[in-house]
Amino acid sequence: MTLQELTEKLKDESLASGLELITNLYSGKVVFSSAFGQEDQAITHAIFKNDLDVKIFTLDTGRLFKETYDLIDQTRSRYKKTIEVFYPQTEKVQQLVSEKGMHSFYNSVEERKECCFIRKVEPLQRALKGADVWITGLRSSQSANREGFKQLEWDEQNKVIKYNPILDWSYDELIKYLTDHNVPYNKLHDQGFISIGCAPCTRAITTGEDPRAGRWWWESSQKECGLHQLAKV
Ligand code: ADX
Ligand code: SF4
Repeated sequence: MTLQELTEKLKDESLASGLELITNLYSGKVVFSSAFGQEDQAITHAIFKNDLDVKIFTLDTGRLFKETYDLIDQTRSRYKKTIEVFYPQTEKVQQLVSEKGMHSFYNSVEERKECCFIRKVEPLQRALKGADVWITGLRSSQSANREGFKQLEWDEQNKVIKYNPILDWSYDELIKYLTDHNVPYNKLHDQGFISIGCAPCTRAITTGEDPRAGRWWWESSQKECGLHQLAKV
């Protein structure tokens, strides 16, 4: 089946049935990366509740919030399932911090991306080894850049099919799903945090601010860490 045919097939499927269709087609080769954001928790719920054959993993950068670590354990015990954790290469982190200090990411976009590469992008590449399909929690309305993403696309960087099952969900739809299914969430969401990444690089946002305004807030970049390719403009 071509990507275009598969896109057509998936178009009107619900979250659970879309995931099921993909796992049937690519048996044993489907993985989901979770950052334990609201989007990720909705997908995790659908995977675990329906007992789907999808490996769920997270990238622990070593700089996450305590509340995020709490949620990882809470999710594990709620569903009684395994979540794999990938870490950066020790030598690379040691070298970065020894040479440039604890907060080199505040210096420039390049130095920030260097830290993101070591702590997130390279571990992702390892986590995706052997997979045919990579599921993410991306949503179009998270940012202008993400409006350019597709529900199903070929990821040339990682040589996998990337499946973004809730790309078209609105924030309200997402919250309804989480509430209806009583899905565990990061307690930082009660304190004005929307998009949550590493602690030194995330702040709460105020009403009217862009959902991703709290990520790398000191930058005027497109605010991507390198996990997801920028949409072509
Ligand atoms: S980021 O690129 O800016 O960090 P964001 O936090 O919006 O991304 O998350 C978008 C998607 O990227 C998540 O739904 C998840 O699939 C993936 N992702 C981001 N960070 C991680 C992480 N630390 N571990 C696993 N997946 C992640
Ligand atoms: Fe490093 Fe910040 Fe990127 Fe986390 S978000 S990997 S701390 S630069």
